[in-house]
Amino acid sequence: MIDLKEKTAVVTGASRGIGLEIARVLASRGANLAIIATKENEELASSIEAEFKVKVKSYACDVSSSETVDSTFKNIIETFGAIDILVNNAGITRDGLLMRMKDEDFDDVIRINLRSVFLCTRAVARHMMGRRQGRIINMASINGICTQAGQANYAASKAGVIGITKSNAMEFAARGITVNAVAPGFIKTDMTEKLNEETISKFKEAIPVKDLGNPRDVANLVAFLASNEARYITGQIIGVDGGLNA
Ligand SMILES: NC(=O)c1ccc[n+]([C@@H]2O[C@H](COP(=O)([O-])OP(=O)(O)OC[C@H]3O[C@@H](n4cnc5c(N)ncnc54)[C@H](O)[C@@H]3O)[C@@H](O)[C@H]2O)c1
Repeated sequence: MIDLKEKTAVVTGASRGIGLEIARVLASRGANLAIIATKENEELASSIEAEFKVKVKSYACDVSSSETVDSTFKNIIETFGAIDILVNNAGITRDGLLMRMKDEDFDDVIRINLRSVFLCTRAVARHMMGRRQGRIINMASINGICTQAGQANYAASKAGVIGITKSNAMEFAARGITVNAVAPGFIKTDMTEKLNEETISKFKEAIPVKDLGNPRDVANLVAFLASNEARYITGQIIGVDGGLNA
């Protein structure tokens, strides 16, 4: 039984999709939450708080900027007293063929998907090390392992997330902090909404379980990795992809 009572979790990109479901599942297990997104959403925080009877605060923070990340994490530690769990989930896509990819399409994706993991992890590292405990879960993607044309920026960012996960796991292992990554396949969210019907049915055909995943499928694994039961798992990249990368 996953019990996260008395724990505080920070979830980035928690206003919708996978991040929102992660926030809800962690709250359902008793965790207090700091939810980060591009915009503050007090209404969302209050609704999770009321449903699961935990403390929830919403923060507007651009996770790719060291200034806003450092001040937001300082603020969260002051408000909650501690951070036990960090879920680096925020991410974007700017797909396009390489020849037509603009500089900013490449840079934005690397900045928001990868630099953010570096910045948010650095912002909690000293705090978690001092407490000799912590759980860091990074959102990678199947695209960081095997990918397709038109996603050079996204695939590079997620391969980078896998690299930073492994390096940080080695660096923090002796301090009671585990660092793992989750690599979802195709999950039904606003991100995959952008795909046309034809692409979606092609994906379904290729997925061994013949269906897209749900945000809940990803969130359940994150909750397990955040728990005491996962204390001996670190430096791992775990797929939630219906067998696509088997
Ligand atoms: N949906 C999928 O099929 C899929 C598959 C593999 C990996 N992923 C990864 O899972 C994560 C969540 O994906 P999703 O589909 O739920 O995305 P989404 O587009 O539905 O939500 C993205 C979230 O990130 C936040 N965000 C974006 N830029 C930000 C910034 N600069 N600062 C703070 N927050 C920011 C948004 O506010 C939003 O809350 C991403 O890292 C994505 O790459 C998704």
